[in-house]
Amino acid sequence: MDFSIKAFDTKNTIASAKTGCVAVGVYENRKLSQDAQALDTAGHITQALKSGDITGKPGSTLLLRGLAGVAAERVLLVGLGNADGVTEKAFTSGVQAALKVFATLGAADAIIALPLAELKERDVNWAIRAVVVAARESIYRTDAQKSKKDPAPAGVKKIALAVVNNAGTKLALAQAIAVANGMQLTKDLANLSANICTPTYLAETAKSLGKEFKFNVEVLERKQLEALKMGSFLSVTNGSEQPPKFIVMKHMGGKPKDAPVVLVGKGITFDTGGISIKPGPGMDEMKYDMGGAASVLGTFRAIGEMNLKLNVIGIVPACENMPSGRATKPGDIVTSMNGLTIEVLNTDAEGRLILCDALTYAERFNPAAVIDVATLTGACIVALGHHHSGLFTRDDDEHNALAEEIAAAGRATGDTVWRLPIGEQYNDQLKSNFADLANIGSPGGASCTAAAFLENFTRKYPWAHVDIAGTAWKSGAAKGATGRPVPLLTNFLINRV
Ligand code: BES
Ligand code: MN
Ligand code: ZN
Repeated sequence: MDFSIKAFDTKNTIASAKTGCVAVGVYENRKLSQDAQALDTAGHITQALKSGDITGKPGSTLLLRGLAGVAAERVLLVGLGNADGVTEKAFTSGVQAALKVFATLGAADAIIALPLAELKERDVNWAIRAVVVAARESIYRTDAQKSKKDPAPAGVKKIALAVVNNAGTKLALAQAIAVANGMQLTKDLANLSANICTPTYLAETAKSLGKEFKFNVEVLERKQLEALKMGSFLSVTNGSEQPPKFIVMKHMGGKPKDAPVVLVGKGITFDTGGISIKPGPGMDEMKYDMGGAASVLGTFRAIGEMNLKLNVIGIVPACENMPSGRATKPGDIVTSMNGLTIEVLNTDAEGRLILCDALTYAERFNPAAVIDVATLTGACIVALGHHHSGLFTRDDDEHNALAEEIAAAGRATGDTVWRLPIGEQYNDQLKSNFADLANIGSPGGASCTAAAFLENFTRKYPWAHVDIAGTAWKSGAAKGATGRPVPLLTNFLINRV
């Protein structure tokens, strides 16, 4: 899919634009948008509304051909709801409906002349990103591992956005495309089966990204992890035949001495639960337990492509969680890199065991902030469903500000988070009779005790934890990865420049 910006004015009118299809907005109560009026030279659009062929309800569409005085082969009327102000929701359904029609047309190019700059709650940059991300989503396929590929999508391959062409909109378009590319990588990685997408595969992907986008990538092997005393991370990989990989990416776009933002992504390429094995039904979906890692890689692709002027470090501890004769057993006590001992009461609470050592490793970068992203707990899906990611930070002024900064990046992109608590009460639930702490809490608040566990390893820098168990993946008929939270992370980083 190819995107561009096309500005129209009184000389270079939308009616004279040669294209396969131009999509314009119409409203309820038979009202036409400005661009629709400009194409209504012979009154056919007014007539279509009058006769009730299109209601103007959000997401309704009507395709017209060969309008007099219009150079475009087709005009697609798109319902946008109330003329007094196009809401985000109405705009989104309008765009999705238009894309659906585009995909069926015998036309290769189209113009979206919806009122991008006149939405009620959102600015033009948001609208540009919304169109690009939705368009890329509409052509995304999950047939990478099918021997017979789904038929190549027909229809529109080139979309021009009718908005003013200035530095702001140009940048917004470039950033939107970079985010869409990052999301695609994240989806591809999470959708890939776990026999292919191993820790080694993630490491190779990081290395080739580093080559393409000119950032440094280092992969630590088991021997080095042993030397670093990452006893907690290494305990998770015990049952697996696949070698663990600890991936460190450095995008140094800022001043050399500026403290970096560190992103840490959970990279369990398959989570069987280990000896505390998971039930069979639905276990296949645990191939996306590297969704955090995939979103860190996707975010690095995005900021690499946009050449972001910020220092960002990505850390991905990657391994499998498997049962075997060598696997860690419930009750085993391991020593983490920062010296705390951990009683592994449940080998299925493995995410925190790999993240805690990665969070200790992050100390060496003197970070401005550390954000870890992880498909950490099923309980987060119970709490928040698939709408918001869970956000956890300490509760002090500095961290409340960080939480608000992340929440704002979520609201700006629609990749939203909702804050949940940690603190002493949850920490107390993690007490162990035999070690400094247990890897699961006493019953209740499982997402909060998981986050509270991580907090113990983050006291040397500002830190936030994002639980993406519910947002990184869709179950059911449209099963597959969503590309979240790449928009959230990328927007957070852009705002930090
Ligand atoms: N990867 C899972 C969490 C998960 C579950 C993500 C479902 C997405 C969908 C994690 O490693 C896990 O197994 N967590 C346990 C923790 C429990 C043992 C305290 C869980 O959520 O059941
Ligand atoms: Mn698990
Ligand atoms: Zn897991």
